[in-house]
Amino acid sequence: MAAAAKRHPTPVFLFSHGTTMMLGEESEPAEFWRSVGDEALRRGIRSIIMMGAHWECTGDKIQVAMNPNPQKTPVAYVAPRRYANFELTPDIPLANRVIGMLRKAGFDAEPNPTFNFIHDTFLILIRMFPTEKTNIPAVIVSANARFDPYYHIKVGSTLRPLRYENVLIIGSGGTVHNLYRNHWMQMVLHRDNFAQPTPPGQFALEFRQAMEDAFTMNCGPMLRRVVARLMKHPMYRDAHGTDDHFISAAFVAGAAGDQEDADAPNAFRAECWELVNMANTQFQLGLWEPAERR
Ligand SMILES: [Fe+2]
Repeated sequence: MAAAAKRHPTPVFLFSHGTTMMLGEESEPAEFWRSVGDEALRRGIRSIIMMGAHWECTGDKIQVAMNPNPQKTPVAYVAPRRYANFELTPDIPLANRVIGMLRKAGFDAEPNPTFNFIHDTFLILIRMFPTEKTNIPAVIVSANARFDPYYHIKVGSTLRPLRYENVLIIGSGGTVHNLYRNHWMQMVLHRDNFAQPTPPGQFALEFRQAMEDAFTMNCGPMLRRVVARLMKHPMYRDAHGTDDHFISAAFVAGAAGDQEDADAPNAFRAECWELVNMANTQFQLGLWEPAERR
């Protein structure tokens, strides 16, 4: 029901944040995040809504961050000077509106006035805006700890109309993210998260390919179905020892999987592997501009 400021919806992004070591190191995903930040600023994006992988509510609840002065939780392996001075800018009015939209759609949504940002979201903001603050204000939405894909698809579809109001929707998680199957030795001994002393395991390669196929070969409502079905993939539990780093994929599929998105291509944009078995793939769903035809 948006008073559409423009006809073309903003693209939606799915970020794999991998380990926190990506903060200080150059990588293909890091460059890509920077380009998204530049593009968002150039196009006058007014706010960013993010669902991460490190905050979920129990029961049926979903929360929205409403702390007007959020702090940053510490990041393992990363020197605090890399993020301590970065200033977060929450968008409280939009957060209020998000709660209203979620409640109207039937969610048990509530504000969280004390929530502090976690690295799954603020590291991305630092990469997007590598100066001293969040140049575009942000709203963080929690996940729900039941990790029901259809619940999170509905969260995304509920917030989708904001894409017509210059709001960027981002999910942050991981393509293959199983801390129990990572190789930690190179990291612990040498702080080298990109070391690949052996190739990734078959489970990791197969599930990473399934994610790429799901996102790049499907559009519109079919994307939602395929992403939900990924949780039944034979390699899913090997690729995700827990569901927390997968579920934002359902959120973005909801936000970018409407019938109106059926003509919008979804693209693989960047990737790196860490700790042998962790795949960090970055996807863009939809386009900044309308496609050439139509
Ligand atoms: Fe994470």
